Amino acid sequence: MDDLKAKYLAQIADAADEAALEAIRVAAVGKKGEISLKMRELGRMTPEERKVAGPALNALKDEINAALAARKAALADAALEERLRSEWLDVTLPARPRRQGTIHPVSQVTEEVTAIFAEMGFSVAEGPRIETDWYNFDALNIPGHHPARAEMDTFYMYRAPGDDRPPHVLRTHTSPVQIRAMEAQGAPLRVICPGGVYRADYDQTHTPMFHQVEGLALDRDISMANLKWVLEEFVKAFFEVDDVELRFRASHFPFTEPSAEVDIRCSWEGGTLKVGEGDDWLEILGSGMVHPKVIAAGGIDPEVYQGFAFGIGIDRLAMLKYGIPDLRAFFDSDLRWLRHYGFAALDVPTLRGGLSR
Ligand code: PHE
Repeated sequence: MDDLKAKYLAQIADAADEAALEAIRVAAVGKKGEISLKMRELGRMTPEERKVAGPALNALKDEINAALAARKAALADAALEERLRSEWLDVTLPARPRRQGTIHPVSQVTEEVTAIFAEMGFSVAEGPRIETDWYNFDALNIPGHHPARAEMDTFYMYRAPGDDRPPHVLRTHTSPVQIRAMEAQGAPLRVICPGGVYRADYDQTHTPMFHQVEGLALDRDISMANLKWVLEEFVKAFFEVDDVELRFRASHFPFTEPSAEVDIRCSWEGGTLKVGEGDDWLEILGSGMVHPKVIAAGGIDPEVYQGFAFGIGIDRLAMLKYGIPDLRAFFDSDLRWLRHYGFAALDVPTLRGGLSR
């Protein structure tokens, strides 16, 4: 028995891995293992012999099992040590500057605008780009015969012949999200709604898909003065200057009354676009006091609530702020353009950290 014990304990001590340990276990204490077979011989012994051999065999078996378990744990610890030694990672190393993508000016400006309005208490609402003509037109006080439908150069979605449900359109502005936000949140309400819009138009300052950010503020005592203040604060914060020359022009939209459009002084001289100087004006937004019919279409009582709305052209803001003279290039996916005008992915615009470092 001492020989058996010495043999197996030595083997266990030498075992290099779990598979070797398992082989030893089978050979020693497995069903047909050497020690198990010895235990079967107990039946043929005299009672006196059995009294000695039985407990001794059991003790040997226990000892071998314990040695197997201890060796197994030691091997696992060693394996873990080895992994910890070889698989370490220095998380304090600086990120590797690789050639990488950039943030498109439209995304950058959308983030900047969102940061500014968030500071003024506006939250973000969104709506679908494929709209029913009710949300895009009727609910905004633009009935079927209204010339504004034609003026907007609307893209209509295809309807199979004979299908005479009203058509869906590619939304021509973000104003339908005003209605959706009113329906979803009621009043009082302060939201901005950024997103893509579509009109059949194409030249240096127009593309068939472009971006707007809608603003809507409803409460019991909102006036045109609040609208003017918010827009001026916005423009100053966005262009990161104390003074930008703005021109408020009386205008007309079916969904606001009264209405105003806002232009910014700029110059296109020598093919570069500069904001705040020169003799040109670039229209950047439409605005006004929300028409009572629109408030009612949103399910809110216009006798109690009133407010202002505006729609700003995001792409045009980007052109003005970053001196990009042609809107069409925004959507060419030219890598050289994207690298030149794009922004670093990790510089998230905030009012405190800086909008456009
Ligand atoms: N929806 C208008 C447009 O696209 C802009 C606008 C929005 C005007 C809200 C007034 C109020 O031209």
